[in-house]
Amino acid sequence: MEKAKIKLICQLVEADGQNVAARLADKEHVSRQAASAWLAAARQEGVISSEGTGRGVRYALATLASASKVYQREGLSEDIVWRELCAPMLRELPDNVRGIWQHAMTEMINNAVDHSGSGQVTVAMQMNALFTEGFVADAGEGIFMKIQKALDLYDTREAILELAKGKFTTDPTHHSGEGIFFSSKMMDRYTIRSGKLHFDHRGEGPDWLLEHESDVIGTQVSMRLANDSTRTAKEVFDRFALPEEFSFAKTTVPVRLAQHEGETLVSRSQAKRLTRRFERFQSVVLDFSGVDEIGQAFADEVFRVFQNAHPDISMMPSNASAAISAMIKRVQNPT
Ligand SMILES: Nc1ncnc2c1ncn2[C@@H]1O[C@H](COP(=O)(O)OP(=O)(O)OP(=O)(O)O)[C@@H](O)[C@H]1O
Ligand SMILES: [Mg+2]
Repeated sequence: MEKAKIKLICQLVEADGQNVAARLADKEHVSRQAASAWLAAARQEGVISSEGTGRGVRYALATLASASKVYQREGLSEDIVWRELCAPMLRELPDNVRGIWQHAMTEMINNAVDHSGSGQVTVAMQMNALFTEGFVADAGEGIFMKIQKALDLYDTREAILELAKGKFTTDPTHHSGEGIFFSSKMMDRYTIRSGKLHFDHRGEGPDWLLEHESDVIGTQVSMRLANDSTRTAKEVFDRFALPEEFSFAKTTVPVRLAQHEGETLVSRSQAKRLTRRFERFQSVVLDFSGVDEIGQAFADEVFRVFQNAHPDISMMPSNASAAISAMIKRVQNPT
C-alpha cells in the first residue's frame, strides 16, 4: 500500500477508532466496501489493529516497536541508556527525528539522574506508524517541589513559569538550565507531571499549566514527535539565539503563567515575579495570549521601571489585546 494512503488511514484511526471505514469512504469518495478493503490491507501490513467485528469494529494504531527498562539511578549514564535501549528501535527514522530524540531522551534521563534523588529511573519508548513517544519517570522529590524549595516560592505553580522562561537551574555549578526549555520545543507534545501539576508544551504554541486531581509521585516526562517531522534540533536552538551567535539569548515567556486562576495581573509583585531572571536574556518576547487585560501598576513595573533599570534588554509584547497594548503605551509615555 502506498505511503500516503497508509498515513491517511492512520490519521483517521488516531482521531477516532470507531466508524473508520465510513469516514475513509467519505474522505476519499469511494464505496464503504472499498474503504473496508483498504483497512484490511493496512491491518495486513501491521500498521493498525482491530477489535470486534462488523459495525462495532474498533481500530487502533499498532505498536511497531517498543522498549522499556527500569534502571538504578546511581551511576547511570544517559548515553548508555540511549545506545542500548532507545537507538536500536529508532534506526529507521530520518536523521533529524533521531537527532531530536537523542537530545531530548538523554536530557530527560540526565535530569532524573542528577536532580531527582530517586532510587530508580524508568525509561520507555514506543513507536507506531505516525509518531514515537518517549517516557522518563522517577520516584524522587518531584520537579516542581524541588524548584519551589530552591527559589523559596510561595506557590508551586510559579515553578512552571520559571521553567518556561528557560535558563533555570538549581545546580548552576554543573548545569545551565537549558534541558527542558529546548527539549520541550523540539517535540510536538511535551508534558511533565509531578504532584498535581502538569507542564504542557504543544508544537509552536505557548506553555500551559494544568492542574489535576491525582497526585503523581516523583516526576514523569512524556514526549511525542511525528516520525516524519521536518524539525531539526539546530533550528530550535537557532530560534533562541541572536543572529550570527550560538548562545541562548532570546526567550518567549507565556505571561498567562504569571496569572493564577481567577486573578488579574495588576500588582507590582506579580510583575516582579514575571521579570525575575529576565536579565539573563538579551531579548524577551512577552506572549500575552490567554490574558485579556493588565493593570496600570503591573504594566508600569514591567515596561517602565524594569525596562529603565535594564535598558539593554529588548522586551517585545506579542499577542497583546488592544487594552493591553494601550496600557503598555500609557506607561511608556507618561504625560
Ligand atoms: N527529574 C527531576 N526531578 C527533580 N527536579 C528536576 C528533575 N528534572 C529537572 N529538575 C529541576 O528542573 C531544573 C531545570 O531542568 P533543566 O533540564 O531545564 O536544566 P538543568 O538540568 O538544571 O540544566 P541542563 O539541562 O542545561 O544541564 C533542574 O535544575 C532541577 O532543579
Ligand atoms: Mg537538565
